Amino acid sequence: MQTVRQLEDLREATAAWRQAGERIALVPTMGALHDGHMALVEAAKRAANRVVVSIFVNPKQFGANEDLAKYPRKEAADSRMLTGAGVDLLWMPPVEVVYPEGFATNISVSGVSALLEGAHRPGHFDGVATVVSKLFNQVQPDIALFGEKDWQQLAVIRRMTTDLNLAVEIQSVLTQREDDGLALSSRNAYLMPEERAKAVALPRALGAAAKAITDGGDVEAALAQARETLAAAGFETDYVALADAETLEPATAYAPGKLRLLAAARLGATRLIDNIAVP
Ligand code: PAJ
Repeated sequence: MQTVRQLEDLREATAAWRQAGERIALVPTMGALHDGHMALVEAAKRAANRVVVSIFVNPKQFGANEDLAKYPRKEAADSRMLTGAGVDLLWMPPVEVVYPEGFATNISVSGVSALLEGAHRPGHFDGVATVVSKLFNQVQPDIALFGEKDWQQLAVIRRMTTDLNLAVEIQSVLTQREDDGLALSSRNAYLMPEERAKAVALPRALGAAAKAITDGGDVEAALAQARETLAAAGFETDYVALADAETLEPATAYAPGKLRLLAAARLGATRLIDNIAVP
């Protein structure tokens, strides 16, 4: 695996592949890789001839009080995992390559970015949309892969890709979970052992609410029950919401196959998010 930190070197490698008619996949990440990320890599290998993984802890998507400084950084372990998985190129630009002096452009996807996660993390999805559009321009992949774990992020990126006619196919990958159901996340590393034990309440609360709603139960009652379950486990809940799967607009009634149940909640200092389909 080549590890590349400068744009000219990235362009040289990808130009050669493109000239040879090879299809290029991009898996954007912020590193501290786990099996969730590796599921995207595996899907990328099936979808393309060449796989590029980017690792960039994007300052623009972290709020002032968020965990940018302490976000886990594991360059050596990440590099070993990607080499083992047969990744062709690791794109690891320094911050000044992504945001050079004078950088003044912002990509903002209105509507979907303002709701739920966006309401609790102002500017977050502008930071995501801006960096993802830059990564698309840098790597110029045929296909890019994103996890359902960050459902709203996926919706923002799909909207942006459509709106800007970006020539990149967006493929989503199912959320990878621990045996007890907790979604894999780089932030799980922050959890104390007793918090880790309680964290399973998040997927369980979502699962129970989704079942209650598909069984014809009252939506508000199902959401209230999920909030109670989370509070009983020691979570401080930012939101538990039923939303249109594509626009993330709030939904008040069951509509088969069109809805997503999403939640964000804090356990001590760690903020976890999760979501599931409402069949
Ligand atoms: P990061 O949190 O590192 O996640 C990188 C990709 O891995 C995202 O597409 C995310 O949805 C996916 N992912 C994380 N946990 C997963 C899981 N348990 N199962 C399946 N996929 C999972 O998301 C970001 O980075 C950034 O916002 C980024 C898109 C790289 C832009 O900076």
